[in-house]
Amino acid sequence: MQYRTFGRTGWEVSDIGYGMWGLAGWTGNDRAEIDQSLDLAVALGCNFFDTAWGYGEGLSEEILGALIGRNPDKRLYAATKIPPKNFTWPSRREFTLDDCFPPDHIREYTEKSLRNLGVDTIDLQQFHVWEDSWAGDDRWQRTIEDLKKEGKIRAAGISINRWEPNNALDTLRTGHIDAVQVIYNIFDQAPEDQLFPLCQALNIGVIARVPFDEGTLTGTFTMETTFPKEDWRSTYFVEENLRSSVAHADALKPLVPEGTTMADMALRFILHHPGVHTTIPGMRKLKNVRANIAASDEKPLSEALLKELKGHRWDRIPTSWSQ
Ligand SMILES: NC(=O)c1ccc[n+]([C@@H]2O[C@H](COP(=O)([O-])OP(=O)(O)OC[C@H]3O[C@@H](n4cnc5c(N)ncnc54)[C@H](OP(=O)(O)O)[C@@H]3O)[C@@H](O)[C@H]2O)c1
Repeated sequence: MQYRTFGRTGWEVSDIGYGMWGLAGWTGNDRAEIDQSLDLAVALGCNFFDTAWGYGEGLSEEILGALIGRNPDKRLYAATKIPPKNFTWPSRREFTLDDCFPPDHIREYTEKSLRNLGVDTIDLQQFHVWEDSWAGDDRWQRTIEDLKKEGKIRAAGISINRWEPNNALDTLRTGHIDAVQVIYNIFDQAPEDQLFPLCQALNIGVIARVPFDEGTLTGTFTMETTFPKEDWRSTYFVEENLRSSVAHADALKPLVPEGTTMADMALRFILHHPGVHTTIPGMRKLKNVRANIAASDEKPLSEALLKELKGHRWDRIPTSWSQ
């Protein structure tokens, strides 16, 4: 496993981290295999875990807390998120800070997450949605600085809304944010334009999330792929999205290097960017943990392939189903 310095926090984080949404929010979960998968990831050197109160109303945090409890001698970094007070993902331009993150709400959910994780200090507390128009409001700034002084959080971050990588730039310039997480993958390359250079200049930690575009970049989806009604993905992979996503993923198939997989190529694409510190694939299966962590030690993709993959950039505009 390779490690990168997570911006100004100085933490040495594994470049393959662990996304913990699916294991408490999607259908098809097997708790025993989930715990084994997490244990295997730790054994293979993974030390960065991304969860949120919103993933199963604390269940994903509890699963991470149990993992931390099973590994008292290992430094595992826990990143979680405060849900917006109006429980609406993503935020919209007209939402105010009071709708989403008034100071008492930031505190209330930090306390809940501390309990669920079973820790004294949360390594990284993130805002689960964000609007850059809130940048100058000193109430969120003071609240997170106070939580740091009180030893309840070590660092603060923003999880940037889907396909809006520039919707936090002014906020980062305030100096109160230590890390961002943003969708970055073979399709979603827009963070390279402004967000990554700014984070590099300000020494802000960068988490690349949704490395497989919620699954299409594993190359396993077809037009026949369906999800149970109660699974979030049934509302995201509506026909319009599934059709275009499968077409874009199919166009990548001829580029997958012999003997590897599209998932492997997707992770190595993300890791080529020096501005990224860790990427957090969602994983619930032992075989996926093994495959994804192996990507960390593989040689970089060739310049020729990277150049081809740059051509598969797909800029999308948030829409009713994109969430
Ligand atoms: N607003 C936000 O803050 C926000 C939104 C979305 C995601 N996130 C974070 O980002 C993380 C990653 O995103 P995600 O989980 O939504 O999507 P993702 O990582 O793009 O895709 C996850 C899917 O890929 C499958 N998979 C993983 N490794 C694979 C492999 N080697 N081969 C084939 N399939 C593989 C997983 O299967 P199994 O599950 O069956 O292993 C799962 O179905 C989340 O878990 C969460 O921590 C944050």
